[in-house]
Amino acid sequence: DTVEWSPEETGKSGYDHFMLKEIHEQPRSLRQCLRGRVSELDGTVDLDVDVDPDGVQFVACGTSYHAALCGVSLFHEAGIPAQAFLASEYATSPPPVDGDLVIGVTQSGETADTLSALREAKRRGAETLAVTNVVGSSVSRECDQTLYIRAGPEIGVAATKTFSSQVLALALLVLSGTGASRQDVAALRDLPGNVQQVLDESNAEDIARAYDGSDAYFFIGRGLQYPVSLEGALKFKEISYEHAEGFAAGELKHGPLALVTENTPVFAAVTGDDLLARKTIGNVKEVEARDAPVVVVTDGQNDAARYADHVLEVPVSDDRTAAILANVQLQLVAYHAAALLDRSIDKPRNLAKSVTVE
Ligand code: G6P
Repeated sequence: DTVEWSPEETGKSGYDHFMLKEIHEQPRSLRQCLRGRVSELDGTVDLDVDVDPDGVQFVACGTSYHAALCGVSLFHEAGIPAQAFLASEYATSPPPVDGDLVIGVTQSGETADTLSALREAKRRGAETLAVTNVVGSSVSRECDQTLYIRAGPEIGVAATKTFSSQVLALALLVLSGTGASRQDVAALRDLPGNVQQVLDESNAEDIARAYDGSDAYFFIGRGLQYPVSLEGALKFKEISYEHAEGFAAGELKHGPLALVTENTPVFAAVTGDDLLARKTIGNVKEVEARDAPVVVVTDGQNDAARYADHVLEVPVSDDRTAAILANVQLQLVAYHAAALLDRSIDKPRNLAKSVTVE
C-alpha cells in the first residue's frame, strides 16, 4: 500500500513551519486516504482489510487516542459496541477481550505504550488491526492486519493531517461493514474541497489575536465534537504552552464551570441541528451567562452564532466530516496563537514526535 509523496515534499515549501504546511496538506492527504476505496456507484467501501467485529477496543495515545474516541462514536452509530483506552492504561489494567477486535491507532506505528497494549491484547487471544501512517512500522508488522491512513510524512511534532486521516480511515472502516449511503458518499467526496474552503476562508488568526494573553482556553463539544474539543485543547497546549482543556459540553456544570471567567475564552464546536447541537447551545448559554468570551465553530445549521463573540465557519456536511472540518479550524487557532507567542512550533519543548519508551 504505497503513498505518492516525493522526498522534496519533506521541505517546508514556503510555509513558516511544517505544522502549517501539514495543516494545508489536508485536502490532499484526505484525498489520498479515500483514493480507490469508495465506489460512487454502489457505495461499497473496499479497504484491503477483512474485519467484521462484534465489538471493538481501541488502544492509542495522544492525538491518536482522540481519533480513537471518534472511532468509538462511529462504531456506535453503526450499532457496534466500542471502547477506547489510553494505551498506557490498557497495558496496566487490561480489560477482558471477549472476542473484540483490538485496534491500535498510531501515526508512527512505533509508540511503545500502544505496541505493548497490542501485545497484551494478543496474549489474551485478540485479533488485532493497526491503523497507521507508516508502511513497515512495528505496529504493522505485529498486528494481524493493517489499515494505512496514507497521510504522507508528518514532520511537525504536533499531529495535524494524520488526525484527520485517522478519523477518515476509521469512518471508512465502519462503512466497509455497513456500506455507504448516497449521502455518505457525497459527504466523503466533498470533504477535501470543504477542508480547502476552511483553509482559504478561516479567520482563525484574528481570533487567536483577539484572545492572546487570556488566562486559559477551554474547548467543549458533544458526540464526535467531544474528541475534537479534546484535540483542539491538546494542540493548543502542545504548541502555545498556554493552559488549555477540552471538556464534554455536558460536564461543564459538574466542575469546569468554576474555572470560567471573562478571561477564559470557550471554544464550542456545534455543527448540525440535532438534539446534540441544541444541548451544546444550552452549554454555550451557560458560559455566556458567566461572561466568558465564546467562539463557536459552526456550519450555520443551528443558531449557536447568536450566542457567540466570534464564529469560525465550516461548510455544511454530515456529522463525521463536520468533526474533521471543525478540527481544522481549531488546528489553525492553535497554530496562530503559538505563532503570536513565537513558540517553537515544530518542536515544542519537552515533546517528541514518536515516544518509544513506556
Ligand atoms: C507523541 C506525539 C503526539 C502523538 C503521540 C502518539 O506524544 O508528540 O503528537 O499524538 O505521540 O503518537 P502515535 O505515533 O502513536 O500516533
